[in-house]
Amino acid sequence: MTGRFDGKVAVVTGAANGFGLATAERLASEGARLVLVDRAEEALQAASSKLNGLAVTADVSSESDVDEYVRRAVAEHGRIDLFFNNAGIEGRMAPMTELSVDDFDRVWKVNARGVFMGLRAVLKVMKPQRSGVIVNTASMAAIKGAATFSPYIASKHAVLGLTKSAALEGAPYGIRVNCVAPGHFDTRMGRDLAAQINPDDPQGVLDEVSKSVPLHGRYGTATEVANLVTFLLSDEAEYISGSLHLIDAALNAG
Ligand SMILES: NC(=O)c1ccc[n+]([C@@H]2O[C@H](COP(=O)([O-])OP(=O)(O)OC[C@H]3O[C@@H](n4cnc5c(N)ncnc54)[C@H](O)[C@@H]3O)[C@@H](O)[C@H]2O)c1
Repeated sequence: MTGRFDGKVAVVTGAANGFGLATAERLASEGARLVLVDRAEEALQAASSKLNGLAVTADVSSESDVDEYVRRAVAEHGRIDLFFNNAGIEGRMAPMTELSVDDFDRVWKVNARGVFMGLRAVLKVMKPQRSGVIVNTASMAAIKGAATFSPYIASKHAVLGLTKSAALEGAPYGIRVNCVAPGHFDTRMGRDLAAQINPDDPQGVLDEVSKSVPLHGRYGTATEVANLVTFLLSDEAEYISGSLHLIDAALNAG
């Protein structure tokens, strides 16, 4: 059977859980050779042995770790065709007046700086190839504000800006760059946010949030994000670059 990604080399960050893992599973099932990156070593090893990928334990907020995961990918496979630049953290939810600068920096370092450093290192490989496709994980937080979530909101607006800039930089080399913007999803991060909003009744928060989702009235699944990401990484999306792709069951349609 031929797959959409036969023989392609795919690097996925945040690959041990959630969207990264679901996307890595789909890429592997359609023929890609995987380089899986995460800082959660044990979960990463489990994912890589299941998917037969190269595991690189790395913190995407560290410049040397980012350069190292890209170096390992090229040393193993000689090229990078697909990059899912996805690792991110939610940080602490609180009004700005109750946040420390450290709270801000912690989120910014992973979500904005980490995405920038990943783009920089991978584009250095893709430009001489004159090919490659990149998807960054933004969020609906890239297009709206939230009173108690400013570091995350700022970092995801940055991901959108980096996506547009990288798309223009990559275009002369035939490189496409997009970002996905998920709404509410049932992953560890989605459940942690519910627990931050109401530590006494996270299930109550999950139920209320579900009711607010116009289509289906539920949280989305990581597989549903993987469906969109792999479409954007595939040749079917050849004319799509520089854009944000909401996946939110009409939550932001109003
Ligand atoms: N879950 C949601 O509702 C939702 C909505 C919109 C956007 N997002 C974004 O989707 C992406 C993936 O989130 P998820 O829901 O799959 O969360 P998750 O917590 O299930 O998975 C995130 C993975 O990234 C890894 N990671 C975190 N920081 C890292 C670092 N510094 N270096 C290396 N690896 C690191 C974690 O170990 C984990 O395996 C994030 O960028 C997140 O902001 C999530």
